[in-house]
Amino acid sequence: MSKLWGGRFSKATDATVEQFTRSIHYDQQLAKFDCWGSLAHIHVLKQAGLLKQQEFHQLQTGLNKILEMIEKGTFKPEPAFEDIHSYIQSLLEKPGFAGSAALKLHTCRSRNDQVVLDTKWYCLEQLLMTEKNLLAYMKGLHQLGQRYARVIMPGFTHMQHAIPVAFPLYCDAFIQMAERDEDRLLRIYNNIQLTMGSGALAGTFLPAAFYSQTIHPEWEKDISPATNSMDTVSDRDFIIETLSGLAIIGMHLSRLSEDLILWATTEFGFAELSDAFCTGSSLMPQKKNPDVLELIRGYTGRLYGNLVSVLVVMKGLPMTYNRDMQLDKEPLFDSFRIVQDSLKVLAPLLDNIQLKEDHIRKHLDDESLYATDMADYLVQNNVPFKQAHQLIGQLIQLKNTSGTDIKRMEDQELKKIHPLLSHKIIQDILNPEKSVKAKKSLKKRKTSFHA
Ligand code: ARG
Repeated sequence: MSKLWGGRFSKATDATVEQFTRSIHYDQQLAKFDCWGSLAHIHVLKQAGLLKQQEFHQLQTGLNKILEMIEKGTFKPEPAFEDIHSYIQSLLEKPGFAGSAALKLHTCRSRNDQVVLDTKWYCLEQLLMTEKNLLAYMKGLHQLGQRYARVIMPGFTHMQHAIPVAFPLYCDAFIQMAERDEDRLLRIYNNIQLTMGSGALAGTFLPAAFYSQTIHPEWEKDISPATNSMDTVSDRDFIIETLSGLAIIGMHLSRLSEDLILWATTEFGFAELSDAFCTGSSLMPQKKNPDVLELIRGYTGRLYGNLVSVLVVMKGLPMTYNRDMQLDKEPLFDSFRIVQDSLKVLAPLLDNIQLKEDHIRKHLDDESLYATDMADYLVQNNVPFKQAHQLIGQLIQLKNTSGTDIKRMEDQELKKIHPLLSHKIIQDILNPEKSVKAKKSLKKRKTSFHA
C-alpha cells in the first residue's frame, strides 16, 4: 500500500506503529467532506494551470464516483490505510477513478490543512442536524405543556416545596434553555470559516485569489483563502466550541431527565412514563425503570469528558500541527451522536408521558406552598415585607407546634399573628389557581420554533 510520505524512509513502518497511528476506523466519517474539499482544490489547481483540462475532468469524475459510492453505502475504506485522506488518494489513483491524474491532487496541499477543512465541514453539517433535533425536542416540550395546560404543581427550590407553578411554565423553562442552545449552535456555525491554502503551515505558492471558491448554495458559506496558515492548521477552537455547545445541551437534557426520573417514583407519583420508553429488571418482576432518562443523564458525563479531553490535548501543543490533534475526532463524533440520539429519544418519550394529575393535586394541599402568598397579602396591605415574612414564619411555626392546619385556625388565633389575617382570607389564599394567576411579572415572549 503506497503511503503519502514514503520517499525518505528506508525501512517499512513497524506493524505496531501502523496500528497505533491509524485513524481510518473513525475518520472515515469525513469521507464525503474530504471529496468535497478535493473538488474545490482541483478548481484551484486548474486555475493555476497545474492541472490540464483532461486531468481536472478525470479527478472530478473520480471524486464524484466516490461520492456516489458513499451515498449508496458501497464505499468501504480499507482498514489497513492510515487515514481517510490516504485511502481516498489511493482509490483515486486506481484506473476507473482518476488514474495517474490523481498523482497531482495533493499539489499545494497538506493533510494538516485538509483535515481542518474536512472537520469544519463535518461540524457545519452536524450542527444543522443537531439544531433540527433540538427543534423536534422543543416541539415535544411545547405539546406536553399544552396537553397539561391547566395543571398546577408544586415548584421546588432545594428539593423542598416552594410555590405552586403552572405546568406549562415548567415546560417552557426547558424550551427557553433549548432556544439558547439553538442560538449557541448557530453562533458556533457562524464562527466556522471554511478556508484553503494553508499548506502544511506556511501557505502555498498559489495566489490567495485562487482559493476563493463558491460551494453548494445549501451551505450559505464559501471557501475563502486562509488569512493565517499557522493558525489555521493548528486551530481546534471550532471543535472545542462545538463540544462545549453540545455539553451544555447535555446538561439541560440531564436536568430534565433527573426531574422526570424523580416524578416517576412512587414517592413523587407525578408522572407515568410509557412502557414503550422504559425497561424492566431481570430479577424483580414489578420493575419499570427509566433507563432512557438515566442514560441521558449518564451520557452527559461523557459529553463533559469529551470537551475536557480536547481542551487538555490542546493546551500544551507547540505551534503548529502535532499528531495529538488527530485525537480530536473521536470525542467530536461521539458528542454529536450522544446529543442527537438523546434528543431523538426524548421527543417521543415526552409525547408519551402521562401526568398523574390527582397525585399532583394532593401535593398542592401542603399549606407551606402558600406562605409567600400570605406574606404578599400582608405586604399589599402595607405591612413591611420583613415584618410580613417574620409573621408568616410564626404562623407556620404555630401550625407545626400545634398540629393544626392553618386553614382550620380560627380568626381569633390568626389575628393574634396579625389583625389583617382571617379564616376567610386564608381560605382565599390557599388556592393554587389564584396563586399562579397572581404572578404577573413575566413578559410574554415569542418562541422561535414552529409548534
Ligand atoms: N489523520 C490526521 C489527523 O487527523 C491527518 C493529518 C496528518 N498530518 C500529518 N502531518 N501527519 O490529524
